[in-house]
Amino acid sequence: MFNITIKDTYDEVSAEAFKIMKEVLSGDHTPVLGLATGSSPVGLYKEMIRDHEENGTSYKDIITFNLDEYIGLPRDHRESYWTFMHVNLFNHVDIPDENVHVPLGCGEDPEADCAAYEAELAKYTADVQVLGIGSDGHIAFNEPGCPFDSVTHIMDLTEQTRRDNARFFDNDINQVPTKAATMGLASIMRAKKIIMIATGENKADAIYGMIKGPKTVDCPASILQDHPEVYVFLDKAAASKL
Ligand code: F6R
Repeated sequence: MFNITIKDTYDEVSAEAFKIMKEVLSGDHTPVLGLATGSSPVGLYKEMIRDHEENGTSYKDIITFNLDEYIGLPRDHRESYWTFMHVNLFNHVDIPDENVHVPLGCGEDPEADCAAYEAELAKYTADVQVLGIGSDGHIAFNEPGCPFDSVTHIMDLTEQTRRDNARFFDNDINQVPTKAATMGLASIMRAKKIIMIATGENKADAIYGMIKGPKTVDCPASILQDHPEVYVFLDKAAASKL
C-alpha cells in the first residue's frame, strides 16, 4: 500500500520523509532503523541530525541495520558505505558503534559474512526501512532478476548501476566495485514501515515500475506493491510518469 507525497524541492521531500521518521523515533519503544546510503536519504539524515541537536532526540539505544556495502572496499575507504553512514549520520548523533550494523564488504568469506548478517538481522524487526531506488528499479543492491525471496547475499552490480555510481568514484566506472553485499528483498519486506525517497527525472521510470508496473523481478522495487505501509516521497520529476 503506497502513500505518495510529491513536493517541489529535495529539501521539502526530505522534511516530509522526516515526519514519518520522527513518528518512529517518538514511538513507545526504542526503534530499530533500517538505513540506506546514496544521495536520496542525505537530506533526511540532515533532518535527523538537526532534530538530535535541537530537540535532544537520543540514538544511544537505537539499533541500525544498513542495506548494503560494496565488496572489496575496506571500511575506511572514502566511498565505503560504512564511511558514508558515519560522515552523513552516525558521527553527528549519540549512537554507539556497537549498535550499528553495515554488511561487511572486505572479509575473507563474503558469503559467510552475508549469512551472519542475515542471522543478526533476523533477531530484530525494523520499525522503518529507508530506501532509495536505482534507475534500473533496484532497491538495496537487488538488481533486476533478483528473486523476491532473497535474503542477504552477494549481487553483481549492473553496468547501469555502476555508471550511475561512478559520480562517487571520480566519474570512472572502472573504480566502481562490481559486486555488493546486500540485504535481500525478503529481508527488506520484513520492515514494519518503508520510507522510499526518489528525486530527479532519471528515477521516473523506476518509480512508475514500482507503483504501476507489473509485479516482476525485472523491477525489484515492484515487490513493494505487497508491503502494507510504504511512504513514497518524490519530487515532480521522479513522479512525472505516474
Ligand atoms: C544504497 C542503496 C541503493 C540506492 C540507489 C539510489 O544503500 O541501497 O539502492 O538507494 O542506488 O541511489 P541514489 O540515492 O544515490 O540515487
